[in-house]
Amino acid sequence: MEAIGQLTGGVAHDFNNLLMVVQSGLRLMERHSDPVRRAATVEAMRQALERGAGLTRQLLALARRQTLKLEAIDLAMHLRGMRELLARSLRADILVDINTARDLWPVKTDPTQFEVAILNLAVNARDAMPKGGVLTVSAKNETRPDGEFVEIRVSDTGLGMPADVLLRVFEPYFTTKQIGQGTGLGLSQFYGIVSQSGGNIRIESVTNEGTSVIVLLPRSNEPAAKPIAAAANDPLLNHIAGKSVLVVEDDDAVANAVDEMLREMGYTPTRVASAQAALNAVEERCTYDLIFSDIVMPGAMNGVDLARELHKRYPNTPIVLTSGFSGTATLDASFPVLRKPYKFEDLVQVVSRVTAPRASESA
Ligand SMILES: Nc1ncnc2c1ncn2[C@@H]1O[C@H](COP(=O)(O)OP(=O)(O)OP(=O)(O)O)[C@@H](O)[C@H]1O
Ligand SMILES: [Mg+2]
Repeated sequence: MEAIGQLTGGVAHDFNNLLMVVQSGLRLMERHSDPVRRAATVEAMRQALERGAGLTRQLLALARRQTLKLEAIDLAMHLRGMRELLARSLRADILVDINTARDLWPVKTDPTQFEVAILNLAVNARDAMPKGGVLTVSAKNETRPDGEFVEIRVSDTGLGMPADVLLRVFEPYFTTKQIGQGTGLGLSQFYGIVSQSGGNIRIESVTNEGTSVIVLLPRSNEPAAKPIAAAANDPLLNHIAGKSVLVVEDDDAVANAVDEMLREMGYTPTRVASAQAALNAVEERCTYDLIFSDIVMPGAMNGVDLARELHKRYPNTPIVLTSGFSGTATLDASFPVLRKPYKFEDLVQVVSRVTAPRASESA
Protein backbone atom coordinates (compact mmCIF):
# COMPACT_ATOMS: atom_id res chain seq x y z
CA MET A 1 0.00 0.00 0.00
CA GLU A 2 2.76 2.35 0.90
CA ALA A 3 4.55 1.70 -2.38
CA ILE A 4 1.42 2.50 -4.33
CA GLY A 5 0.88 5.62 -2.25
CA GLN A 6 4.37 6.74 -3.03
CA LEU A 7 3.90 5.98 -6.67
CA THR A 8 0.70 8.02 -6.76
CA GLY A 9 2.48 10.93 -5.14
CA GLY A 10 5.37 10.56 -7.52
CA VAL A 11 3.16 10.46 -10.55
CA ALA A 12 1.21 13.53 -9.44
CA HIS A 13 4.54 15.22 -8.90
CA ASP A 14 5.69 14.39 -12.42
CA PHE A 15 2.40 15.46 -13.91
CA ASN A 16 2.65 18.80 -12.18
CA ASN A 17 5.99 19.34 -13.78
CA LEU A 18 4.80 18.33 -17.20
CA LEU A 19 1.77 20.56 -16.87
CA MET A 20 4.07 23.32 -15.79
CA VAL A 21 5.96 23.05 -19.09
CA VAL A 22 2.75 23.06 -21.12
CA GLN A 23 1.21 25.89 -19.15
CA SER A 24 4.20 28.17 -19.45
CA GLY A 25 4.63 27.11 -23.07
CA LEU A 26 1.13 28.22 -23.95
CA ARG A 27 1.73 31.50 -22.23
CA LEU A 28 4.89 32.03 -24.20
CA MET A 29 3.13 31.17 -27.47
CA GLU A 30 0.49 33.76 -26.73
CA ARG A 31 3.04 36.45 -26.20
CA HIS A 32 5.82 35.80 -28.69
CA SER A 33 5.81 35.53 -32.44
CA ASP A 34 9.51 34.65 -32.92
CA PRO A 35 9.35 31.37 -34.91
CA VAL A 36 12.53 29.92 -33.41
CA ARG A 37 11.33 30.40 -29.86
CA ARG A 38 7.92 29.09 -30.73
CA ALA A 39 9.34 25.96 -32.37
CA ALA A 40 11.45 25.24 -29.28
CA THR A 41 8.42 25.76 -27.08
CA VAL A 42 6.28 23.44 -29.17
CA GLU A 43 8.98 20.77 -28.96
CA ALA A 44 9.20 21.14 -25.18
CA MET A 45 5.43 20.84 -24.86
CA ARG A 46 5.35 17.82 -27.17
CA GLN A 47 7.95 16.04 -25.05
CA ALA A 48 6.04 16.87 -21.90
CA LEU A 49 2.87 15.44 -23.39
CA GLU A 50 4.64 12.28 -24.48
CA ARG A 51 5.93 11.73 -20.98
CA GLY A 52 2.49 12.38 -19.61
CA ALA A 53 1.05 9.76 -21.94
CA GLY A 54 3.67 7.28 -20.71
CA LEU A 55 2.74 7.97 -17.12
CA THR A 56 -0.90 7.45 -17.92
CA ARG A 57 -0.12 4.05 -19.37
CA GLN A 58 1.69 3.08 -16.19
CA LEU A 59 -1.23 4.29 -14.15
CA LEU A 60 -3.72 2.36 -16.21
CA ALA A 61 -1.68 -0.77 -15.67
CA LEU A 62 -1.98 -0.21 -11.96
CA ALA A 63 -5.60 0.86 -11.95
CA ARG A 64 -6.79 -2.70 -11.60
CA ARG A 65 -5.27 -2.88 -8.14
CA GLN A 66 -5.80 0.67 -7.11
CA THR A 67 -5.47 1.61 -3.48
CA LEU A 68 -6.58 4.84 -1.95
CA LYS A 69 -4.36 7.38 -0.33
CA LEU A 70 -6.62 8.67 2.41
CA GLU A 71 -6.09 12.11 3.86
CA ALA A 72 -8.22 14.56 5.78
CA ILE A 73 -9.38 17.23 3.35
CA ASP A 74 -11.61 20.25 3.07
CA LEU A 75 -14.06 18.95 0.51
CA ALA A 76 -15.62 22.37 -0.04
CA MET A 77 -12.31 23.63 -1.33
CA HIS A 78 -11.89 20.64 -3.63
CA LEU A 79 -15.41 20.89 -5.03
CA ARG A 80 -15.18 24.62 -5.63
CA GLY A 81 -11.83 24.02 -7.32
CA MET A 82 -13.56 21.74 -9.81
CA ARG A 83 -15.83 24.42 -11.22
CA GLU A 84 -13.63 25.15 -14.22
CA LEU A 85 -12.99 21.49 -14.92
CA LEU A 86 -16.70 20.69 -14.76
CA ALA A 87 -17.68 23.59 -16.96
CA ARG A 88 -15.20 22.40 -19.56
CA SER A 89 -16.17 18.76 -19.42
CA LEU A 90 -19.88 19.41 -19.80
CA ARG A 91 -21.79 21.27 -22.48
CA ALA A 92 -22.80 24.89 -22.76
CA ASP A 93 -26.46 23.96 -22.22
CA ILE A 94 -25.68 22.56 -18.77
CA LEU A 95 -25.61 24.93 -15.86
CA VAL A 96 -23.23 23.95 -13.07
CA ASP A 97 -24.21 25.00 -9.58
CA ILE A 98 -21.69 24.28 -6.84
CA ASN A 99 -22.78 25.20 -3.36
CA THR A 100 -20.85 24.14 -0.32
CA ALA A 101 -21.77 25.04 3.22
CA ARG A 102 -19.48 27.21 5.28
CA ASP A 103 -17.30 25.49 7.86
CA LEU A 104 -17.67 22.10 6.29
CA TRP A 105 -16.14 19.42 8.50
CA PRO A 106 -13.02 17.71 7.23
CA VAL A 107 -13.46 14.22 5.77
CA LYS A 108 -10.94 11.53 5.11
CA THR A 109 -10.71 10.32 1.53
CA ASP A 110 -8.42 10.21 -1.47
CA PRO A 111 -8.87 13.70 -2.92
CA THR A 112 -7.70 12.87 -6.43
CA GLN A 113 -9.83 9.76 -6.73
CA PHE A 114 -12.76 11.56 -5.20
CA GLU A 115 -12.48 14.39 -7.71
CA VAL A 116 -12.26 11.92 -10.56
CA ALA A 117 -15.38 10.22 -9.19
CA ILE A 118 -17.27 13.52 -8.99
CA LEU A 119 -16.24 14.22 -12.55
CA ASN A 120 -17.70 10.85 -13.53
CA LEU A 121 -20.96 11.76 -11.81
CA ALA A 122 -21.01 15.01 -13.74
CA VAL A 123 -20.42 13.16 -17.00
CA ASN A 124 -23.23 10.73 -16.12
CA ALA A 125 -25.45 13.75 -15.47
CA ARG A 126 -24.48 15.29 -18.77
CA ASP A 127 -25.34 12.08 -20.61
CA ALA A 128 -28.70 12.02 -18.83
CA MET A 129 -29.46 15.59 -19.91
CA PRO A 130 -29.26 15.48 -23.72
CA LYS A 131 -31.37 18.62 -23.92
CA GLY A 132 -29.47 20.48 -21.23
CA GLY A 133 -30.33 21.13 -17.62
CA VAL A 134 -28.80 21.88 -14.25
CA LEU A 135 -26.07 19.97 -12.44
CA THR A 136 -25.96 20.76 -8.76
CA VAL A 137 -23.06 19.75 -6.54
CA SER A 138 -23.61 20.53 -2.89
CA ALA A 139 -22.02 19.63 0.41
CA LYS A 140 -23.16 20.21 3.97
CA ASN A 141 -22.61 18.95 7.48
CA GLU A 142 -25.10 16.36 8.66
CA THR A 143 -25.62 15.18 12.25
CA ARG A 144 -27.41 11.87 12.57
CA PRO A 145 -28.11 9.43 15.37
CA ASP A 146 -25.23 7.28 14.11
CA GLY A 147 -22.67 10.06 13.92
CA GLU A 148 -21.49 13.19 12.21
CA PHE A 149 -21.12 13.23 8.45
CA VAL A 150 -20.53 15.45 5.49
CA GLU A 151 -23.23 14.94 2.89
CA ILE A 152 -22.30 15.42 -0.74
CA ARG A 153 -25.12 15.53 -3.22
CA VAL A 154 -24.75 15.52 -7.00
CA SER A 155 -28.07 16.10 -8.74
CA ASP A 156 -29.19 16.49 -12.32
CA THR A 157 -32.46 17.41 -14.00
CA GLY A 158 -32.12 14.63 -16.56
CA LEU A 159 -33.91 11.52 -17.73
CA GLY A 160 -33.61 9.57 -14.51
CA MET A 161 -33.44 5.77 -14.39
CA PRO A 162 -36.03 3.03 -14.46
CA ALA A 163 -36.03 0.77 -11.39
CA ASP A 164 -34.25 -2.13 -13.12
CA VAL A 165 -31.33 0.12 -14.09
CA LEU A 166 -31.18 1.73 -10.67
CA LEU A 167 -30.82 -1.71 -9.10
CA ARG A 168 -27.72 -2.47 -11.12
CA VAL A 169 -25.80 0.81 -11.41
CA PHE A 170 -23.14 -0.15 -8.87
CA GLU A 171 -22.32 -3.38 -10.68
CA PRO A 172 -18.94 -3.21 -12.36
CA TYR A 173 -19.28 -3.03 -16.14
CA PHE A 174 -23.01 -2.36 -15.98
CA THR A 175 -23.76 0.31 -18.55
CA THR A 176 -26.66 1.36 -20.72
CA LYS A 177 -24.33 3.34 -22.94
CA GLN A 178 -23.17 2.34 -26.38
CA ILE A 179 -19.88 0.58 -26.91
CA GLY A 180 -17.15 3.13 -26.63
CA GLN A 181 -19.34 5.57 -24.69
CA GLY A 182 -19.06 4.02 -21.27
CA THR A 183 -17.27 1.20 -19.49
CA GLY A 184 -19.80 0.89 -16.68
CA LEU A 185 -17.07 1.32 -14.10
CA GLY A 186 -17.75 4.87 -12.96
CA LEU A 187 -20.31 4.26 -10.23
CA SER A 188 -18.81 0.96 -9.07
CA GLN A 189 -15.47 2.68 -8.58
CA PHE A 190 -17.12 5.50 -6.71
CA TYR A 191 -18.85 2.94 -4.52
CA GLY A 192 -15.42 1.48 -3.74
CA ILE A 193 -13.90 4.86 -2.94
CA VAL A 194 -16.76 5.85 -0.68
CA SER A 195 -16.78 2.56 1.23
CA GLN A 196 -13.00 2.60 1.65
CA SER A 197 -13.44 6.11 3.07
CA GLY A 198 -15.88 4.71 5.63
CA GLY A 199 -18.93 6.28 4.05
CA ASN A 200 -22.00 5.22 2.15
CA ILE A 201 -23.71 6.13 -1.07
CA ARG A 202 -27.26 6.00 -2.34
CA ILE A 203 -29.07 7.10 -5.45
CA GLU A 204 -32.51 8.62 -5.82
CA SER A 205 -33.88 8.78 -9.31
CA VAL A 206 -37.20 9.71 -10.83
CA THR A 207 -37.78 9.05 -14.52
CA ASN A 208 -37.92 12.25 -16.52
CA GLU A 209 -37.21 14.34 -13.45
CA GLY A 210 -33.66 13.61 -12.54
CA THR A 211 -31.17 11.78 -10.41
CA SER A 212 -29.36 12.54 -7.16
CA VAL A 213 -26.32 10.70 -5.94
CA ILE A 214 -25.99 11.18 -2.21
CA VAL A 215 -22.79 10.38 -0.38
CA LEU A 216 -22.18 10.45 3.35
CA LEU A 217 -18.59 10.61 4.53
CA PRO A 218 -17.83 10.47 8.25
CA ARG A 219 -16.45 13.62 9.84
CA SER A 220 -12.72 13.33 10.38
CA ASN A 221 -11.20 14.56 13.61
CA GLU A 222 -7.95 15.34 11.86
CA PRO A 223 -7.62 18.87 10.53
CA ALA A 224 -7.83 19.18 6.74
CA ALA A 225 -4.54 19.11 4.89
CA LYS A 226 -3.55 22.46 3.54
CA PRO A 227 -4.79 22.70 -0.03
CA ILE A 228 -2.32 23.15 -2.84
CA ALA A 229 -4.35 25.68 -4.77
CA ALA A 230 -4.69 27.95 -1.77
CA ALA A 231 -0.92 28.26 -1.45
CA ALA A 232 -0.95 31.28 -3.74
CA ASN A 233 -3.31 33.03 -1.34
CA ASP A 234 -1.23 32.10 1.66
CA PRO A 235 -1.13 35.07 4.03
CA LEU A 236 2.53 34.20 4.55
CA LEU A 237 3.07 35.32 0.98
CA ASN A 238 1.24 38.64 1.23
CA HIS A 239 4.52 40.44 1.56
CA ILE A 240 5.64 39.17 -1.86
CA ALA A 241 3.25 41.10 -4.11
CA GLY A 242 5.21 43.18 -6.60
CA LYS A 243 8.65 42.19 -5.29
CA SER A 244 11.52 41.40 -7.61
CA VAL A 245 13.28 38.09 -8.07
CA LEU A 246 16.32 37.26 -10.15
CA VAL A 247 16.04 33.81 -11.72
CA VAL A 248 19.35 32.25 -12.77
CA GLU A 249 18.65 29.24 -14.94
CA ASP A 250 20.25 28.06 -18.18
CA ASP A 251 17.48 25.69 -19.27
CA ASP A 252 14.81 27.63 -21.12
CA ALA A 253 11.90 25.30 -20.45
CA VAL A 254 12.63 25.18 -16.74
CA ALA A 255 13.21 28.93 -16.60
CA ASN A 256 9.83 29.55 -18.22
CA ALA A 257 8.12 27.27 -15.79
CA VAL A 258 9.81 28.86 -12.77
CA ASP A 259 9.02 32.29 -14.13
CA GLU A 260 5.37 31.30 -14.31
CA MET A 261 5.26 29.99 -10.75
CA LEU A 262 7.02 32.98 -9.27
CA ARG A 263 4.59 35.27 -11.06
CA GLU A 264 1.76 33.27 -9.64
CA MET A 265 3.18 33.95 -6.19
CA GLY A 266 3.20 37.67 -6.91
CA TYR A 267 6.83 38.18 -7.91
CA THR A 268 8.13 40.10 -10.87
CA PRO A 269 10.91 37.87 -12.17
CA THR A 270 13.98 38.81 -14.18
CA ARG A 271 15.75 36.00 -15.98
CA VAL A 272 19.41 35.40 -16.70
CA ALA A 273 21.13 32.25 -17.96
CA SER A 274 24.49 32.24 -16.16
CA ALA A 275 26.18 33.22 -12.91
CA GLN A 276 28.14 35.95 -14.67
CA ALA A 277 24.96 37.41 -16.17
CA ALA A 278 23.43 37.30 -12.69
CA LEU A 279 26.31 39.28 -11.22
CA ASN A 280 25.96 41.84 -14.01
CA ALA A 281 22.23 42.12 -13.42
CA VAL A 282 22.71 42.61 -9.70
CA GLU A 283 25.41 45.26 -10.33
CA GLU A 284 23.02 47.13 -12.58
CA ARG A 285 20.07 47.02 -10.24
CA CYS A 286 21.90 46.95 -6.92
CA THR A 287 19.63 44.36 -5.44
CA TYR A 288 16.69 42.05 -5.82
CA ASP A 289 14.24 40.92 -3.18
CA LEU A 290 15.13 37.30 -3.86
CA ILE A 291 17.74 35.38 -5.84
CA PHE A 292 16.65 32.02 -7.23
CA SER A 293 19.47 30.12 -8.89
CA ASP A 294 20.14 26.78 -10.49
CA ILE A 295 23.31 25.13 -9.20
CA VAL A 296 24.66 23.42 -12.29
CA MET A 297 25.21 25.94 -15.05
CA PRO A 298 27.68 26.46 -17.87
CA GLY A 299 30.49 28.90 -17.20
CA ALA A 300 33.21 29.24 -14.62
CA MET A 301 30.87 29.87 -11.73
CA ASN A 302 28.14 27.55 -10.52
CA GLY A 303 25.10 28.46 -8.46
CA VAL A 304 26.79 27.83 -5.12
CA ASP A 305 29.73 30.10 -6.04
CA LEU A 306 27.26 32.71 -7.16
CA ALA A 307 25.28 32.44 -3.95
CA ARG A 308 28.44 32.84 -1.81
CA GLU A 309 29.54 35.85 -3.83
CA LEU A 310 26.14 37.55 -3.67
CA HIS A 311 25.80 36.76 0.01
CA LYS A 312 29.11 38.55 0.63
CA ARG A 313 27.91 41.65 -1.21
CA TYR A 314 24.27 41.61 -0.11
CA PRO A 315 24.00 39.60 3.10
CA ASN A 316 20.32 40.48 3.54
CA THR A 317 19.11 39.21 0.19
CA PRO A 318 17.55 35.77 0.53
CA ILE A 319 18.91 33.14 -1.84
CA VAL A 320 17.33 29.86 -2.87
CA LEU A 321 19.25 27.28 -4.89
CA THR A 322 17.83 24.51 -7.00
CA SER A 323 19.30 21.41 -8.54
CA GLY A 324 18.36 18.31 -10.46
CA PHE A 325 21.07 16.28 -8.75
CA SER A 326 20.12 14.86 -5.40
CA GLY A 327 23.68 14.86 -4.01
CA THR A 328 23.95 18.62 -4.19
CA ALA A 329 21.60 19.09 -1.27
CA THR A 330 24.56 18.69 1.04
CA LEU A 331 26.86 20.96 -0.92
CA ASP A 332 26.32 24.06 1.10
CA ALA A 333 24.07 24.16 4.09
CA SER A 334 23.95 27.95 4.19
CA PHE A 335 21.43 28.18 1.38
CA PRO A 336 18.24 26.15 1.00
CA VAL A 337 18.31 23.82 -1.98
CA LEU A 338 15.11 22.91 -3.80
CA ARG A 339 15.43 19.59 -5.57
CA LYS A 340 14.10 19.29 -9.11
CA PRO A 341 11.52 18.39 -10.04
CA TYR A 342 9.65 20.34 -7.43
CA LYS A 343 6.05 21.36 -7.15
CA PHE A 344 4.57 24.79 -6.86
CA GLU A 345 3.89 24.30 -3.17
CA ASP A 346 7.48 23.22 -2.52
CA LEU A 347 8.63 26.45 -4.07
CA VAL A 348 6.08 28.40 -2.06
CA GLN A 349 7.22 26.72 1.11
CA VAL A 350 10.92 27.40 0.64
CA VAL A 351 10.40 30.94 -0.60
CA SER A 352 8.00 31.84 2.18
CA ARG A 353 10.49 30.43 4.69
CA VAL A 354 13.44 32.48 3.47
CA THR A 355 11.47 35.66 2.89
CA ALA A 356 8.97 35.53 5.75
CA PRO A 357 9.04 38.60 7.95
CA ARG A 358 8.54 36.26 10.89
CA ALA A 359 11.69 34.21 10.90
CA SER A 360 10.57 31.20 12.91
CA GLU A 361 7.57 30.38 10.77
CA SER A 362 7.64 26.94 9.15
CA ALA A 363 4.81 25.30 7.25
N1 LIG B 1 -27.23 10.72 -13.54
C1 LIG B 1 -27.71 9.63 -14.17
N2 LIG B 1 -28.91 9.68 -14.79
C2 LIG B 1 -29.38 8.59 -15.42
N3 LIG B 1 -28.75 7.40 -15.49
C3 LIG B 1 -27.55 7.30 -14.90
C4 LIG B 1 -26.96 8.40 -14.21
N4 LIG B 1 -25.78 8.00 -13.72
C5 LIG B 1 -25.63 6.72 -14.07
N5 LIG B 1 -26.67 6.29 -14.80
C6 LIG B 1 -26.85 4.94 -15.34
O1 LIG B 1 -25.96 4.08 -14.66
C7 LIG B 1 -25.12 3.41 -15.58
C8 LIG B 1 -23.78 3.15 -14.94
O2 LIG B 1 -23.08 4.37 -14.70
P1 LIG B 1 -21.50 4.36 -14.54
O3 LIG B 1 -21.04 5.73 -14.31
O4 LIG B 1 -21.14 3.32 -13.56
O5 LIG B 1 -21.02 3.82 -15.93
P2 LIG B 1 -21.10 4.54 -17.35
O6 LIG B 1 -21.35 5.99 -17.18
O7 LIG B 1 -22.09 3.78 -18.14
O8 LIG B 1 -19.65 4.28 -17.92
P3 LIG B 1 -18.29 4.96 -17.37
O9 LIG B 1 -17.47 3.81 -16.92
O10 LIG B 1 -17.74 5.64 -18.55
O11 LIG B 1 -18.66 5.87 -16.27
C9 LIG B 1 -25.09 4.30 -16.78
O12 LIG B 1 -24.80 3.59 -17.97
C10 LIG B 1 -26.50 4.87 -16.79
O13 LIG B 1 -27.42 3.94 -17.36
MG1 LIG C 1 -20.15 7.13 -15.83
